[in-house]
Amino acid sequence: MAESITITDNRTGESIEIPIVNGGVDSGAWSKLLPGIWFSDPSFGTTAAASSAITELDGEQGILRYRGYPIEQLAEKSTYLEVAYLLIHGELPTTEQYDAWVHEITYHTYIHEHIRKRFLEGFHYNAHPMGMLVSSVAALSTFYPEAKDIEDPDNRMKQTVRLIAKLPTLAAAAHRFSVGMPFVYPDNSLDFATNFLSMMFKVAEPRFECDPRLTRALDILFILHADHEQNCSTTAARVVGSSHADPYSTMAAACAGLYGPRHGGANEAVLNMLTEIGSYDRIDDFIRGVKQGSGRLMGFGHRVYKSYDPRAKIIKEAAYEVFEVTGKNPLLDMALKLEEVALADDYFVSRKLYPNVDFYSGLIYQAMGFPVEMFTVMFAIPRVSGWLSHWLEALQQNTRISRPRQLYVGAAQRDYVGIDARD
Ligand code: CMC
Repeated sequence: MAESITITDNRTGESIEIPIVNGGVDSGAWSKLLPGIWFSDPSFGTTAAASSAITELDGEQGILRYRGYPIEQLAEKSTYLEVAYLLIHGELPTTEQYDAWVHEITYHTYIHEHIRKRFLEGFHYNAHPMGMLVSSVAALSTFYPEAKDIEDPDNRMKQTVRLIAKLPTLAAAAHRFSVGMPFVYPDNSLDFATNFLSMMFKVAEPRFECDPRLTRALDILFILHADHEQNCSTTAARVVGSSHADPYSTMAAACAGLYGPRHGGANEAVLNMLTEIGSYDRIDDFIRGVKQGSGRLMGFGHRVYKSYDPRAKIIKEAAYEVFEVTGKNPLLDMALKLEEVALADDYFVSRKLYPNVDFYSGLIYQAMGFPVEMFTVMFAIPRVSGWLSHWLEALQQNTRISRPRQLYVGAAQRDYVGIDARD
């Protein structure tokens, strides 16, 4: 059987054969036969908007690989910064490359004092840290105007390092501001995850100390969240990047995409949902309500995964390790029960709705002391390395500016009527 499809225009009888390459067909070939006839695919459900060599995802089989490496192996054996290097550079680093990379990231964690004092401190006292993050990432572009030179690969890499390094500092600064605590400067003697925890939670102790099981769990969560191919926020990064906006503005757009409750905001929504359900005896009512359309079971379902999200499996295991240190999150039993009820219910089974990465991550964050508003921020910290790898890849591919078509369904031409003559 030929690896191709044939399209026939029934109006003219003309046909065209289009090869299937890497699982897709080239829409350019379609346009040759049918100029002015557009694919209608508003949520990109069947559109490959990019060719990418970064992340491979098979939703039916529950497979997730970064640059070919299975997520399970990376979560077990790697570190977040090594994974970030892998995503950005395409290969795992040698010892020398890794040490240089860690050094570079570690020594770019400071933010300009004006970002904190003049910008972040201008927010309202109860500003959501994700709103602060979106804005402050965008604001960085005004501090690094040279970032606009996206043609220079060295300059691109410099901004890439800055962004990966500064996200935890901005995130922690937003948190400290929102709880009225003084800003904690980065400590270059700490590893990436411990440094972030130090900036979040350090009080008066001279040096922040933390159980290594907690920092390892956080690092694993960072690995699991680092990339996920063409999701909403990554697509935002690729689309905005295609206009040749600077990387800070581009990453701010991606952050904004992540903020929504259908995407990175879901972990916050899961915790709110579990708290609202409140007790076991209300689970059945809640599930009934979901099935009747009163809301969604947050942390369940995925556009691509039609089986158990492989990240959710790893997170569930990590949760138990964290709870050994912190004590069990009282909402865990509720989550387990909810999962059990949903997975036995035909509504969820028939729609292939399984727990996704966000179902258990919030329970870990909460047990570690992160406030619920910080959960999406925690997602953004590592995801910036994924967004940047896509931004770099798209620039290397020299993609055209993203500019979809539309199917116009509005009014036909009509004449303007003066306001006095309108009914
Ligand atoms: N609870 C109840 N019903 C659901 C859910 C859910 N969580 N998700 C999908 N459905 C139903 C939906 O109502 C529809 O039913 P029907 O065919 O009867 O109309 C069917 O399943 C297909 O849903 P869809 O809306 O077409 O699916 P989608 O691919 O557009 O949406 C999703 C994917 C993740 C936005 C959605 O599953 C959802 O809203 N889940 C809850 C939010 C969530 O947990 N998001 C985190 C995603 S993973 C992390 C990330 O990548 O950010």
